[in-house]
Amino acid sequence: MHRFIPRSLAPVCLAAAASLAMAGAASAQTAAAQKIKVGFMLPYTGTYAALGNAIENGFRMYVQEQGGKLGGREVEFFKVDDESDPAKAPENATKLIKRDQVDVVIGTVHSGVQMGIVKVAKENNTLVIIPNAGADEATGPLCGPNIFRSSFSNWQPGYAMGQVVAGRGMKKVVTLTWKYAAGEQSVKGFKEAFEAKGGKVVKELTLPFPNVEFQALITEVASLKPDAVFVFFAGGGAVKFVKDWAAAGLKDKIPLYASGFLTDGTLEAQGAAAQGLETTLHYADGLETPRDRNFRAAYAKAFKLQPDVYAVQGYDAAQMLAAGASAVKGDMSKKTEVIKAIEATRVDSPRGVFTLSRAHNPVQDFYLRKVEGRENKVSSVAVKALADPARGCRL
Ligand code: PHB
Repeated sequence: MHRFIPRSLAPVCLAAAASLAMAGAASAQTAAAQKIKVGFMLPYTGTYAALGNAIENGFRMYVQEQGGKLGGREVEFFKVDDESDPAKAPENATKLIKRDQVDVVIGTVHSGVQMGIVKVAKENNTLVIIPNAGADEATGPLCGPNIFRSSFSNWQPGYAMGQVVAGRGMKKVVTLTWKYAAGEQSVKGFKEAFEAKGGKVVKELTLPFPNVEFQALITEVASLKPDAVFVFFAGGGAVKFVKDWAAAGLKDKIPLYASGFLTDGTLEAQGAAAQGLETTLHYADGLETPRDRNFRAAYAKAFKLQPDVYAVQGYDAAQMLAAGASAVKGDMSKKTEVIKAIEATRVDSPRGVFTLSRAHNPVQDFYLRKVEGRENKVSSVAVKALADPARGCRL
């Protein structure tokens, strides 16, 4: 004898049974079908817009080269324009982490915005791979197991240039930059290396980010008659600065040195004003390794553009994520194993192979480059395997 089911309830029971069966099938499938959720938090507007786009291009290109999958799983992308605005950073990071439930945040470019991302990601134990921002804190006092960087610390390129300028016998230098972490920490790195070798930074000039009213400051630099000038500018602001410097007639009068962001991804717009400028960076044109040659050819084909340092950093962020995802066959919930695998990876970057420091920052060569035409041509390795000192990081 079977139980009597009132006619009015029959559809409900059937539906319940069906949904139970479906749930079983779904859970058997979820592991394989679940996508890896990647959240881009990057500037898509403002002075750093081109940098954000290059990072996303590089990242997507690596995923495409793997057939669209990492660790055997498809990748789903989410995007937020962070506008290089630190005030909006906590809210924007929260959107990706809480609303979209991403497995990893790929962000960002601006050091001030990075501080907001790091804070929210640490509270939620979300994996972050920083594809540019140099904020020393992220791999210093605020370092964390879930915070990685595919780029550089602000200290690194500045330090490399400090060695070069001191090595040329320059004694008296004026610095000029935007007044925020990236500029100030680049100058600090420069000063540390330059003054350790007997040089002196006689004046540190700044203007608010992202202002481009350089005229009065350029006049002040000239009046101080230094042996050389060290600057940090990037993106749209770098284009304007290099042009203003040349227009003021100082290009052949006072040697201008900078971290390589001054002339990366900007040469078409800077034209003649940039010719001959020397900078230090962890990437350069003319490396002529098979790895770099292939990367550049593929990037040019895909995007009808030459790659720059930002594209390389995006590409390598994807390589780092791939190392973590492969180790857990795409199951990103195994956070400890993902982290261990990324820590141990040797990244086969177009810039040259690099490893990660204890604080999760690249240990990498810094090239001295010189602008020739549309290229930042490599002249030499300024500092080999330079590691950020990771002051204040306890990991
Ligand atoms: C930064 O804010 O850390 C930053 C921005 C642009 C660059 C480099 C560093 O090109």
